[in-house]
Amino acid sequence: MTDNSAPVGVFDSGIGGLTVAQEVIRQLPHESVIYFGDTARVPYGPKSPDTVRRYSREIAAFLGEQGVKSIVIACNTATAHALGVLREELEMPVIGVVEPGARAAVAATRGGHIGVIGTVGTIKSGAYERAIRAIEPDVMITARACPLFVPLVEEGWTDHDATRLIAREYLEPMLDAEIDTLVLGCTHYPLLKPLLRDVLGPDVRLIDSAEETAAETARTLNEAQLAAAPGADPAYRFIASDDPLQFLQLGQRFLGATMEGVEIRTLG
Ligand code: DGL
Repeated sequence: MTDNSAPVGVFDSGIGGLTVAQEVIRQLPHESVIYFGDTARVPYGPKSPDTVRRYSREIAAFLGEQGVKSIVIACNTATAHALGVLREELEMPVIGVVEPGARAAVAATRGGHIGVIGTVGTIKSGAYERAIRAIEPDVMITARACPLFVPLVEEGWTDHDATRLIAREYLEPMLDAEIDTLVLGCTHYPLLKPLLRDVLGPDVRLIDSAEETAAETARTLNEAQLAAAPGADPAYRFIASDDPLQFLQLGQRFLGATMEGVEIRTLG
């Protein structure tokens, strides 16, 4: 029988998924969390679905060895390519970021035109379109890959003229198409929220899958009777597959909190 005090495993291609871990920690304050960032093999965005699936399986196996009771795939690209196989192959609940984001977008849209932005892999996979249409077949969807956003965020250029210029280039066609809701379908994009609000104006709603995914994690753990006891004292572990020092320095910005330390573990 699974121990309710076992940690929740959260993984991403790198540090970006810490935006999801942050929400899990905020919304589920009694859950312990083990976060794995695959910094040795980031980015996943431009890689083939097969490669991303292989990496995701390796990480899930590693988290299983660490005794996690469920897995949150914090990476949009890994969710797009590997959620199906991990759900098939693992006995524990596996939560991705795409379905929660799609649900929130459908609930938020007023005019029925949803924009989706993400990495090349996520957009090419059509995962968001499928998830949105499974809930509401009649919405209009305009999707666009924004590959330059990830390096800009990693550079810390979240409020920079170059980023604003690039955001206009990516998003003006979406504004012309009159989207009323935009799904931030990538771990890094929540850090661009203020800049995207500037570019898109007040009428476009921004959907951050991190908040929705944490809420979905809470629901899933409750339904599976796996939630930690209300008085439980949580423990957090952060593990990177390369350069733990850089993970620590950059990661605190994504996590919005101090990390005690980062372990290193190479996979593959
Ligand atoms: N974590 C990835 C995602 O959410 C972005 C970074 C990458 O390309 O690996 O799609």
